[in-house]
Amino acid sequence: MSETLIIPDSESRKEIYEAIIPQIASLVSSESNVIANLANITSVLKEAFGFFWVGFYQADGDELILAPFQGPIACTRIKRGKGVCGAVFESGKSLVVPDVEEFDGHIACSSLSRSEIVIPLILKGTVWGVLDIDSESVRDFSEIDKHYLEIIVEIISTDVLG
Ligand code: SME
Repeated sequence: MSETLIIPDSESRKEIYEAIIPQIASLVSSESNVIANLANITSVLKEAFGFFWVGFYQADGDELILAPFQGPIACTRIKRGKGVCGAVFESGKSLVVPDVEEFDGHIACSSLSRSEIVIPLILKGTVWGVLDIDSESVRDFSEIDKHYLEIIVEIISTDVLG
């Protein structure tokens, strides 16, 4: 396993994602424990981009339950359909929320969070959970983040959960 994360000194998110994705694939290829792998992936994303909060929620019945994350303490349970995470749990589709104050029903685990992106983790056709990332800046996430984070969750579905 590579013990050191190599992050390019770049302002380009695309360039950073392209550098970390093979490192994520390599990290998870040498470990079979799901929690260990999800924990390391939250660390890679936090270290690479300095996001305010990066974490997973795992589905359990009609709820999402807090799973490995990096950042301030967060809500532990979210009902299907509630907040951004619950909406993604219900729809199975990624959501980019440019301004959390304009998302009806947003759950404010921290008042410092201003924008958010949530990507579903699909395993065998059902939503296993979600990857949730929060930023302290409005409009911090774009289609570039969505594109690359969907590649990362695909690696998780096939190599970590599968
Ligand atoms: N804001 C999320 C709740 C989770 S926290 O951001 C960690 C939501 O509305 O679902």
